[in-house]
Amino acid sequence: MERFLSPDELARDARFKRSPSRNELFRTLPDDVGSVVRILEKIAPKLRERVEDTALEAVFDELGPGFAFLTNAGAQSEVDRTPLQLRLQLHGIFVGELQALEAASRTLWDFPDAPWQFKMDMARQCWDEARHVQVYEKLIKHVGGEVGEFPENTFLFEVSCADDPVMRVAGVNRCLEGLACDAFRSLIEYGKAQNDDVIAQAVDFVLADELTHVRFGSTWVKELTKDDPERARLAKEFQRETDRRFVFGGGRTVAREERLEGGFSEDELEELDEILAVGPSRETLVEAAEILRDRHRARARGEDVPPFEDVGG
Ligand SMILES: [Fe+2]
Ligand SMILES: [Fe+2]
Repeated sequence: MERFLSPDELARDARFKRSPSRNELFRTLPDDVGSVVRILEKIAPKLRERVEDTALEAVFDELGPGFAFLTNAGAQSEVDRTPLQLRLQLHGIFVGELQALEAASRTLWDFPDAPWQFKMDMARQCWDEARHVQVYEKLIKHVGGEVGEFPENTFLFEVSCADDPVMRVAGVNRCLEGLACDAFRSLIEYGKAQNDDVIAQAVDFVLADELTHVRFGSTWVKELTKDDPERARLAKEFQRETDRRFVFGGGRTVAREERLEGGFSEDELEELDEILAVGPSRETLVEAAEILRDRHRARARGEDVPPFEDVGG
């Protein structure tokens, strides 16, 4: 069997549609309403293409190229979600769990010379992630959604293609599993606030596993780099770079308690807060998205819409 599988080789059945990652774009947008409007209008046809034949196509047609900020912005920190936001978030987590399963199993397979306990931990993680896939598949049904109704991007698996096991666990276990802790903590709060015990309890069970996975990362980065300060430095740099890739415009709250339990230090949490503060604010993105929506609707009504000027925007 082949080692070091590339993301486009991940096997999916006919229900799934693949879309390229948008995170890079979100992170590089300036914190300025006018610029965000101009950039998104320019790439609108491309964004439209990415959602074609999925449930997001109708959302794009209704809200225009800034739709993601009107459906996603703040979704992780509020106890409120529209039915579409909830379906979209659960679906995103579902494909994330699928890729986490693929990432952990590839790490187990790609490094035959790794310590036995490292492989056992990765195997344990596979078992957990397989269960998470099933839990989220059921939660998608619970909220009236359907597997494959939204496009899947493979950003998670892309982070898990490093050719050094230390970078794998630094990127996947410490960044992505940490990100999962943040998202799941807020989803539990949502479930509680909405009296949806199914969501609150199911996600609580999953979160208990995720912080174990963060701990695997903390333990193995330390263990595998203990006699190699240069490799330790590279792992830290890779972790920072990965965290920077997942800044979604100010909408994320860090699950401090879970991360501390998973082996993060106070200094690391402080550093993470600094990383998350970079990029456009949620307010900027939502304001730009509202302008984009109004201009999109005007165009749909057949009105002549001039290039966007900052005046009044
Ligand atoms: Fe998981
Ligand atoms: Fe996990």
